This record gives sequence, C-alpha cells and structure tokens, in this order.
Amino acid sequence: MRTLLVERDGDAIATHLRERDEPTGEVVVDVEYSGVNYKDGLAMAGRPGVIRDHPLVPGIDLAGVVRTSENTGFAPGDRVVLNGSGLGERVDGGLTEVAAVRAEHLVRLPETVSTWEAAAIGTAGFTAMLSVLALERLDAASPYGGGSVLGGDVVVTGAAGGVGTIAIALLAASGRRVIASTGRADAQGAFLRELGAAEVVDRDELSDAGKPLRPTRWTAGIDSVGSTTLAGLLASVRPGGAVAACGLAQGADLPATVLPFILRAVTLAGINSVDAPIALRREAWARLASDLDPALLRSLSTTVPLAEAPGLAERILAGEVRGRTVVDVRA
Ligand SMILES: NC(=O)c1ccc[n+]([C@@H]2O[C@H](COP(=O)([O-])OP(=O)(O)OC[C@H]3O[C@@H](n4cnc5c(N)ncnc54)[C@H](OP(=O)(O)O)[C@@H]3O)[C@@H](O)[C@H]2O)c1
Repeated sequence: MRTLLVERDGDAIATHLRERDEPTGEVVVDVEYSGVNYKDGLAMAGRPGVIRDHPLVPGIDLAGVVRTSENTGFAPGDRVVLNGSGLGERVDGGLTEVAAVRAEHLVRLPETVSTWEAAAIGTAGFTAMLSVLALERLDAASPYGGGSVLGGDVVVTGAAGGVGTIAIALLAASGRRVIASTGRADAQGAFLRELGAAEVVDRDELSDAGKPLRPTRWTAGIDSVGSTTLAGLLASVRPGGAVAACGLAQGADLPATVLPFILRAVTLAGINSVDAPIALRREAWARLASDLDPALLRSLSTTVPLAEAPGLAERILAGEVRGRTVVDVRA
C-alpha cells in the first residue's frame, strides 16, 4: 500500500510517501479520505509534541470502509470515521491507504454523511461540535437563566481555520448570532459571512485587549487560538457566560486574571477531542449529520492527493490555509 511516513534521520524529521506492507489488527479499514489538521501540520513538519516514536504514519483522522473486523460491533462494508484516539500520534494514523485500528473509538457514519464529508469535518469539525455541545450544556444548566450562554453574541476565534469555519457554520445553523475573529478580515471576511457570521472583527481587537475586564460584548466564545486572544475574549464575556477553549494556534499560554471568573461568573470549559468517550463521539457525529449544511462544508474544504499533504504542513502552521483540507488517499 501507499502511505505517508514521518521518519527521523538523526536530528532531521521529514515526511515521505512510501510503499509498505498492509497492517493487520482489530479492525482493518480501507481508508478513503483523511485530512490535514493543525496537529498534522506539526507532525509532518517534524515539530515536537505530537509524534513520540518515529517512523509513524501521520494523520489524526480517517474515514473509510471496514475490510475485516475481529470486533463484533463492526462488519466488512461498514462506513466508519475515527478522530484522534492516538491516531497519528501514538499509533499509525490515517494518511495511508489501509489502516488497522482499535474499535474502541470507531464511529459508524450516519447514513447521510459520506466518507469525504466525514474527512472534511475531521477532528476540526468534530472539535467544533464538541465545543458547541459543551456550551449548550452550560446554557441549559445555567443558574443565570436560559440564554445566558448562547442567547447573545458568540465569538469564534481563529475563524478562517478548520475549527473556526465549522464552528461558525454550526452556531449559525442553530440560530446563534456569531462574531468571527480573524487575522484575515480583508481576504476572508466575505467568506466568513457566507458561512453565517453576522460580524467579522480583527483578531487584534481581542489580543490587544490589555485589561482583565472590559465592557461586555458576548455571552460565549469558541477559542482555537489561546494566549492573549483567549485572555482578551474572557475579558469581554457577559456575566454567567462561558467559553470553550480548544486550541493553541497563537500559543499555549494564557496571560489572564481570575477576574472574569470571580466577578462575572464566567465559565471556561476545556475541550479534548482526542480522548472523547464513545457516547460523546456518537452524539457529536449525529449532530454534525443533522446540523451541518453539506454545501457550506464543500465551500470551506479543499481536496488534495496523498502526495501533496506534506507540502501543506508549513502552510497550516503559518495560518495560511483556509477552512479544511481533505486528503484523497487513493489519488
Ligand atoms: N482540543 C482539541 O481536541 C483540538 C482539536 C482540534 C484542533 N485543536 C487545536 O485547535 C487549533 C486550531 O486547529 P485547526 O485545525 O482549526 O487549525 P487551522 O485550520 O490552522 O486554524 C487555526 C487558525 O488560527 C488562527 N491563527 C493562526 N495563527 C495565529 C496566531 N499566531 N495568532 C492568532 N490566531 C492565529 C488563524 O485564523 P485566522 O486566519 O482566521 O486568524 C488560523 O486559520 C490548533 O491549535 C489545534 O491544535 C484542538
């Protein structure tokens, strides 16, 4: 089979297209599509913190068809998706023609979702959905009353990226008023409005916020950026509001104070897609199937052949890729 491999040669780490024997394991999947997430960019560019032992097949997502299964929960011909769960980090990932995976976190695709759509959604869209679900739960349980979290403006940072674009589409589909925060307002503002953003703001407005408490602007946020952007976002959340933190595209630091939490009862919810339990995975994929407009998903996605994926690594890390990149592993 053809596969990408991240290989180490001394201090140098590089990603190559290789021929390799097909793997065996609990569930063997004929992969049709994978994707390039931010984390895949880090792994393929040889940055630390994603792949522990080389060589490894990169790709934190896969979507395809079961070839064989030792697990009675799956049968040949089942269309499946797997996000995270160590793929492309601890075990061989999805940027390959055939993958052997564990059944534990494998999800059978809803009827209406194609394998291409599953990869276009990918970990980024799955994480956006987990973030929306977390905010919905906080909204429903809020002692500040229904709508204290999702009843007002909801800001999405890293808006033109994979998590951001799908978060905007999902929030707008459920009637939320979305504010998109981006560093590419000129180039991507019109596109972000097409996805459903009511307003587009320059990301410097958040990252330069300075003060720990500022005039309130939104009831909730989905942040894939971290650092001063998340700190600035938190400073403007209305009392009883909440923020889902899922990323670190700007940085892993959080130069904030406790004031939004103790003076405005703001909640900061953490989102981890990699180890999400199976019940939550199924819930998220069912909601993605019902809430996400396939036409919008097509408009925010680009498809490339397997050999072109490594070349996108540095571009996604530089914040130059728009929306989602699907990899057709058979092309
Ligand atoms: N918690 C989880 O389980 C989970 C799952 C998926 C992803 N993530 C994390 O979420 C983040 C986004 O992932 P992704 O796949 O959506 O990546 P992506 O497609 O590269 O999008 C990231 C976006 O962040 C913004 N950005 C990039 N560099 C920035 C900087 N220096 N300062 C401020 N904003 C910057 C850009 O948006 P604009 O151009 O619009 O400004 C960029 O498009 C990554 O850190 C990723 O590791 C976490």
